[in-house]
Amino acid sequence: MPHNRIYLSPPHMTGREMEYIKAAFDSNWIAPLGPHVDAFEREMADYVGAAGALALSSGTAALHLALKLAGVGRGDRVFCSDLTFAASVNPVFYEGAEPVFIDAEPESWNLSPGALQRAFDDAEREGRLPKAVVAADLYGQSADYGPIGQICDRYNVPLVEDAAEALGATYRGRKCGALGRWNILSFNGNKIITTSGGGMLLSDDEDSLAKARFWATQARDRAPWYQHSEIGYNYRLSNLLAAVGRAQLTVIEDRVAARRAVFGRYAAALGDIPGVSFMPEASFGRHNRWLSVVLVDPERAGLSPLDLMETLEGENIESRPLWKPMHLQPVFEAFPFYAHEGKGAPAVSADLFKKGLCLPSGSSLAEEEQGRIVALLRGTLQP
Ligand SMILES: Cc1ncc(COP(=O)(O)O)c(C=O)c1O
Repeated sequence: MPHNRIYLSPPHMTGREMEYIKAAFDSNWIAPLGPHVDAFEREMADYVGAAGALALSSGTAALHLALKLAGVGRGDRVFCSDLTFAASVNPVFYEGAEPVFIDAEPESWNLSPGALQRAFDDAEREGRLPKAVVAADLYGQSADYGPIGQICDRYNVPLVEDAAEALGATYRGRKCGALGRWNILSFNGNKIITTSGGGMLLSDDEDSLAKARFWATQARDRAPWYQHSEIGYNYRLSNLLAAVGRAQLTVIEDRVAARRAVFGRYAAALGDIPGVSFMPEASFGRHNRWLSVVLVDPERAGLSPLDLMETLEGENIESRPLWKPMHLQPVFEAFPFYAHEGKGAPAVSADLFKKGLCLPSGSSLAEEEQGRIVALLRGTLQP
């Protein structure tokens, strides 16, 4: 291969992580709790503007606990974003419940308030309201939480914000990660900041976080011996990984700026090519541009996103199609789906999936490397 591989979204260390880790070693806090965990929770809650936070082993674990707090159980329904990663939905099944998928809307590519309302209308008629709504902030852009929150409030159904991809993004001046009743973040290795693996549950309801903390530490009763009245989980974040997260959080604003700059360069360099467009930034917020997404209309551009992916791969450059919509996944296709424009209308999510490609978007992507990607794309799209 002529060049080193360019990855989609590699970890980007600050250089300060080892100082924080050294402090953990020096104090021998090598455990799934400790001062870095406490401080990371406080600092993240302050950053997003939530009253409290619980650091966990993954974003998926955080979502699982959020659904338990919402009282989701066997046979219940949960309304979920359709255009997202499967981890947004899998925890619904951990509790024996069933998803109903809500299409994306074109402005933000996130949960359509119109389709959500129609799903609630039907659920009310059937006497089967959902136990929770899970809305994802796709690729680092907030969903439209004004109307979504109003609908949830009207039916008294709790909203869970899956902000796994959206740390540093905003909605009408408020930070993602604090826009639902319960909110989750992911610090997986490919996210805008990372702990290698990790996640967080955030809420203004601190009593509920105390309950989640109890479940996440094996549900140990207050007793001098090991006594259990409920089923628990081993979901806490290691103090060593929280050390990494604290160092990473100090640079979140720089990371957002760098990713937005990467996106801006793609859009400026390629936006004039017929059949090529980019993921929009909704009027209601700041996109963190975790991933830069290009849309290629195969009819106008004469190429599909998979053709482009192959071309990039030939030059050792990683790219990836959009998340395949949940209602098209073999494992989920039996569950109901509400399209943005109404019953029988084509799915917005499926159309985006057909056209979209995620380009290398890391905050450490060098301008020279991005220049190579742009030249290759331009040469392929306009030979
Ligand atoms: C939208 C979304 N939800 C949930 C998750 C799950 O997070 P984790 O990998 O930390 O379990 C991810 C990412 O992995 C994600 O992108």
